[in-house]
Amino acid sequence: MAVLPIISAPDPRLKIKARPVVVVDDDVRRLMDDMLETMRKAIGIGLAAPQIGVAKRVIVLDVARQGEEPQPMMLADPEILWRSVELATFNEGCLSLPEHYADVTRPAAIRLRYLDYQNEIREIEVSGLLATCIQHEVDHLDGVLFVDHISLVKRGMILRKLAKAKRARSLAAA
Ligand code: NI
Repeated sequence: MAVLPIISAPDPRLKIKARPVVVVDDDVRRLMDDMLETMRKAIGIGLAAPQIGVAKRVIVLDVARQGEEPQPMMLADPEILWRSVELATFNEGCLSLPEHYADVTRPAAIRLRYLDYQNEIREIEVSGLLATCIQHEVDHLDGVLFVDHISLVKRGMILRKLAKAKRARSLAAA
């Protein structure tokens, strides 16, 4: 397993539509393992393949709290089949938008179909933090970031700060 660098916004690789996986083979399993390790190292609760520069429909999650038993999930080709009318608001962050957070309102529950680590088709219904986290990660596969769900003013402010931080880093590295 390997820890990979996480791309931070703004970056065109975070705006693409990722390609379907179709079959979870050893290559995809290696990608899932690397993503899980990368997410854990970064102390995140979710990561999508485009965030490490891989344009495939793969996401990993673990919403277990500190001290709880880990609950890793590794999903390929996740498809949201149903969204509840009821909404829920969570303060969201993202490993690609470090140090920025905003309240995002999404459907409170979803039903999801995906391919698991063993290439089996699974269907689950989830709510709460896990439902929000899955929607956030599935968004990444379509080039959508959590800031795309908030006001234009707030989004502009966050992206300008991130661009500035990125310029400062590249100048420091030059
Ligand atoms: Ni994210």
